Amino acid sequence: MTIDGPNTAETIKLRCRITLFAASLAMLLGACVGDVAASGSSASTQPFTGMGQPVAGGQIYGNACSSCHGSDLFGLDGLGNQLAPSEFVMLNTQSELANFIEQGRAADDPDNTMQIEMPPKGGSPWLNDRDIADVAAYLKASQ
Ligand code: HEC
Repeated sequence: MTIDGPNTAETIKLRCRITLFAASLAMLLGACVGDVAASGSSASTQPFTGMGQPVAGGQIYGNACSSCHGSDLFGLDGLGNQLAPSEFVMLNTQSELANFIEQGRAADDPDNTMQIEMPPKGGSPWLNDRDIADVAAYLKASQ
């Protein structure tokens, strides 16, 4: 146990560094592409309305959505339904999906098939407009 302690701490530290690095890379990539899409306007202060980036969205999905919808998007019993393949994802545009994710779906919503709430932003209120667009793009790309 005394040997395991420091090793485990080191491993966690390393994992954190890798995660942080991957996250910064994804944000950097998103920022670059987003700025090009916004064609030079002062994008940082404007609400994000551009196309999402599926690769960055995959990271966000893993952190904020997979706990209910499954890391393979097949859904998890009693938590969240299947998102790929999904008629709902196919029939809605990226921005319609983004609006849905923003709001979630109440348990008593007539469209709710599981009678379980999807909280707004899947319960991750820190997700910004660009994150939501990215995750919506990821869902569209996963069909
Ligand atoms: C706490 C669990 C939970 C989390 C986290 C969660 N969802 Fe959901 N989600 C649900 C539930 C429950 C439903 C409603 C299922 C139903 O209508 O039967 C749902 C529905 C959806 C739907 C509609 C699917 C359909 O067929 O109508 C989409 C799209 C969706 N979620 C995307 C996401 C995204 C993207 C995230 C991450 C930002 C996310 N969800 C996070 C529980 C969750």
